[in-house]
Amino acid sequence: MEARPTPEILLEPGALDAALRADVRAGLTATPKTLPPKWFYDDRGSALFDEITRLEEYYPTRRERAILVERAPEIATLTGARTLVELGAGSGEKTRILLDALPLDTYVPVDVSGEFLADAATKIAADYPGLTVRPVVADLEEHLAEVSGGPAELVVFLGGTIGNMVPEERAAFLATVRSLVGDDGAFLLGADLVKDPERLVRAYDDARGVTAEFNRNVLSVINARLGADFNPKEFEHVAVWDPVEEWIEMRLRARSAQTVRIPALDLTVEFAEGEETRTEISAKFRPERIKEELTVAGFGIRALWTDPDGDFSLTLAVPTSV
Ligand code: AVJ
Repeated sequence: MEARPTPEILLEPGALDAALRADVRAGLTATPKTLPPKWFYDDRGSALFDEITRLEEYYPTRRERAILVERAPEIATLTGARTLVELGAGSGEKTRILLDALPLDTYVPVDVSGEFLADAATKIAADYPGLTVRPVVADLEEHLAEVSGGPAELVVFLGGTIGNMVPEERAAFLATVRSLVGDDGAFLLGADLVKDPERLVRAYDDARGVTAEFNRNVLSVINARLGADFNPKEFEHVAVWDPVEEWIEMRLRARSAQTVRIPALDLTVEFAEGEETRTEISAKFRPERIKEELTVAGFGIRALWTDPDGDFSLTLAVPTSV
């Protein structure tokens, strides 16, 4: 029996709850209304996202896995990493490709969901005897600067989650990652690429409606955690491509006028018929832009790989010597 790795917890008790309250209050009292994508991922939302990654229309997960399989040996030689720090680790499924290819001593999965993280870490520890697994429970928006893997570390941020940030947030995030990566470390970033808008919209509006359920799940999360009385069925899933910002926007459109009570916030929110609440942006990149943003953050580009169809990218970057 492998020991269950005990997560290091950077989250203060109650901090996530306070963040949820602040986000919901700010977002639902703003014009236009917004809700951050961070709150999709309770157990049901995480299971729905897992289902999304297996949908025919949702190509990013498969494409990123293909690049990882093809490039893992190069990542091993180019970085010589001994420690792998994974931001937003999730189930750690794709990570196994890296764990198999790199001569690692230590794996540091970082995620906001403690239970999920502990389960995933336990499985990895059982399958990789000799690897030290050191899970960290942290909110990447709050604790990134406190996450440290040690020397010769490779920090990875996969899945295209960087696309959930607007450009200013990305710049701040990448600068923090730069300060986290030691001078002999490296950063591996997964980012989805600009492509045919029809394919993009289909990836975020699948025929079976799994993404629609995932989108509406944020309302169930608010119901469960803040005692609200949203009727998720009264909100329609909308996915649109913004050609100027080059991002997909997911929204929830009220099918009829709605009055929603949120007792934990002592707040009543009115939705007009047809009113849209933005729940996620998923930015898509051109390779030049990825390189430029990493360069501005203080990285040099070692490699930018795509899958054969040019759908998704993995960029390996190292700190620029000063
Ligand atoms: C997990 C943030 C990468 O933006 O593609 C999937 C989330 N949203 N379908 C993405 C998501 C709708 C996903 N990320």
